[in-house]
Amino acid sequence: MTDAHAAARGVGVVVVAAGSGARLRAGLPKAFVALAGRPLLAHSLDTVAAVPGVASVAVVVPADLLDPSGPAWSGVSLPPGAVVVAGGAERTASVAAGLASLDPSCDVVLVHDAARCLTPVAVFARVVAAVRAGAAGVVPGIPVVDTIKVVDAAGVVTSTPPRESLRAVQTPQGFRREVLLAAHAAGAGATDDAALVEALGHDVLVVEGDVRAHKVTTPDDLAQAERLLAAPTTGGRP
Ligand code: CTP
Ligand code: MG
Repeated sequence: MTDAHAAARGVGVVVVAAGSGARLRAGLPKAFVALAGRPLLAHSLDTVAAVPGVASVAVVVPADLLDPSGPAWSGVSLPPGAVVVAGGAERTASVAAGLASLDPSCDVVLVHDAARCLTPVAVFARVVAAVRAGAAGVVPGIPVVDTIKVVDAAGVVTSTPPRESLRAVQTPQGFRREVLLAAHAAGAGATDDAALVEALGHDVLVVEGDVRAHKVTTPDDLAQAERLLAAPTTGGRP
């Protein structure tokens, strides 16, 4: 067993914010849509800045919004030393661009959706702790409330997995840096980074997620996020 402290060199965070937000239909890229008067990205970066041990941050945005002094960035505070890079057409390409821009001395990398803008710091800390404890990949997840069916192309149910075995997974997803680099070199096109790491044969551990890490996808999700922020007992960031 290696000495975890001797190996701990810093956490790098890739915040992916380069999507178009087609399902939100807000007329601008989703990460720049306002929540309580500030872009979703601003809320996400405030949280990242509060995560212990973060040494490097890459913010991945649409190519036409690269200038942090531009009007779309109003209200956004970049964490110290953060770099801003252009994303790609698919989420996987955006993650790869961010990963390539992180300080290579980081031994743990987190990938976080800017759209999960109310994720508590505690979720980040749980993910980092589990990677530091030896997991190759770690994802936060919550039990699913609906029964999930697997269907074929015609919509016919082919199986019903037992609900107790299912988790809805969130971000930040955390990895040993070399594992995530190898996974991105080997594959593409997955909806999350953990799937690329699983495809390489690594174990991915699910730790406790949080309902506040829900992804803003639709106008209803944005309204729900506004309600969470307005309710001080259940909302807020910690
Ligand atoms: N993302 C990205 N680059 C892409 C696609 C997505 O950086 N080419 C980011 C989004 O900005 C978001 C996260 O990945 O923070 C999760 O993606 P999703 O919720 O699908 O966001 P969008 O792709 O923007 O939304 P939609 O699919 O509705 O267009
Ligand atoms: Mg998308």
